[in-house]
Amino acid sequence: MLYIGIDLGTSAAKLLLMDGSGQIKNTVTKEYPLEFPQPGWSQQNPEDWRKAVMEGIPELLRGFDGAAVAGIGCGGQMHGLVILDQDDHVIRPAILWNDGRTAKQVDYLNQEIGKKRLSVLTANIAFAGFTAPKLLWMRENEPENFGRIARIMLPKDYVNYILTGTHSCDYSDASGMLLLDVEHKCWSKEMLDICGVSEAQMPRLFESYDCIGTVKPEIAKRLGIPETVKVCAGAGDNAAAAVGTGVVGEGGCNISLGTSGTVFISSESFGVDRNNALHAFAHADGGYHLMGCMLCAASCNKWLMEDIFRTSDYAAEQEPITDDKLGENHVFFLPYLMGERSPINDTNARGVFMGMTMDTGRADLVQAVLEGVAFAIRDSVEVARSLGIELNASKICGGGAKSPLWKKIMANVLNIELQCLESEQGPGMGGAMLAMVACGEYDSVKAACEKIVHVASTVRPEPELAAKYEKRYRQFQKIYPACKQLFADFSNE
Ligand code: XUL
Repeated sequence: MLYIGIDLGTSAAKLLLMDGSGQIKNTVTKEYPLEFPQPGWSQQNPEDWRKAVMEGIPELLRGFDGAAVAGIGCGGQMHGLVILDQDDHVIRPAILWNDGRTAKQVDYLNQEIGKKRLSVLTANIAFAGFTAPKLLWMRENEPENFGRIARIMLPKDYVNYILTGTHSCDYSDASGMLLLDVEHKCWSKEMLDICGVSEAQMPRLFESYDCIGTVKPEIAKRLGIPETVKVCAGAGDNAAAAVGTGVVGEGGCNISLGTSGTVFISSESFGVDRNNALHAFAHADGGYHLMGCMLCAASCNKWLMEDIFRTSDYAAEQEPITDDKLGENHVFFLPYLMGERSPINDTNARGVFMGMTMDTGRADLVQAVLEGVAFAIRDSVEVARSLGIELNASKICGGGAKSPLWKKIMANVLNIELQCLESEQGPGMGGAMLAMVACGEYDSVKAACEKIVHVASTVRPEPELAAKYEKRYRQFQKIYPACKQLFADFSNE
């Protein structure tokens, strides 16, 4: 049997075709645009996702037997607000996970409703990218659109809706809406009331590996697959990526260096970070996880390479950064190009280069960006350590993990062993594995991981280098507090 995994990302939909043993048969990437209509705003057109999937699947299946496809599973960018009217028309572009327009609504939720109450209701506090503050923003700024909402969904749920006609959401992705009672896995009536929406507008909830339905006959025909193909509920991209790297059950860790950067810690039981700096979400294996999310990780490097240096040869830019340069860079970079989520929760934060001198060269800036992202990831790792979680090893995935240099910097900044996978396909692979469970190919997500996921190599920290980075991290930690007030002042001018 064949399975299709979809990674519905921020820059592209990456589709993969896999057999039941986890062998990847084909991949297709379909890019789409991202709009920044105002500084700090971020939107995308759900129609572009539909098109990417509807055109991508036939392309993926070219040369393969479409009749052998049994299931489809999607791991999608989280938190994006997708709204449909009575006639299933998308009302406005989706407001994405890295959109910062809701500072006022976030303040209202965290100050007026109160972090304590939010945490009791949803296990989380409000962050600008989460879905609930976007609903409040719409009610205030686009009341006409708000009044037309018939269905509320997340990005991958829109794709699932197109495929099956089922208005669904899984618990891992729903956790990031700030509307779900994460511990009890049901919508929070009180949160829905606060946001002025009703349960009738919300999707039906499923475990990620549950089948939500089969593909509609007309869609099956267009895609060249049988009408019996099952679509599973899928997962938020981080939970799906964790499945794809085998981070399920108790105490696993996955670091993703994608557009966003995340530290994902899986757990069998529900738990909340007492300071709510880490998100407390459901996992795609039926359990839970804690997660720190920085908004710009590999995207900081992409920005420097493509927008500033006007090159696509990342490896050439990293080549001059030889081993002797590591831990010795006097240039620092605050990677807050879209504001920041974990752990500082500051929409006003911005990117900063600091410490440059006349002998600072291009490679020092590149190194500062790679290190700045590693330091910011460490901020979340430190929050997890402060909760008593022992982090000595982690899987690593995402576009940034393709750079051996960046992995070495990460391992030494975090002082943990990084395990790299034999076949690293992130959320798409997790999506296909969830579909396998929905189709009965495996009894559980854990069983699928045991069979399919294998570590190929490890990057170990080196005591001397880790000690140098420890000193640099302590310096890095002083920069944001020194800039914080300026960021707030400048954003009000
Ligand atoms: C997680 C988050 C990001 C997006 C990226 O909370 O906002 O990782 O899911 O697609």
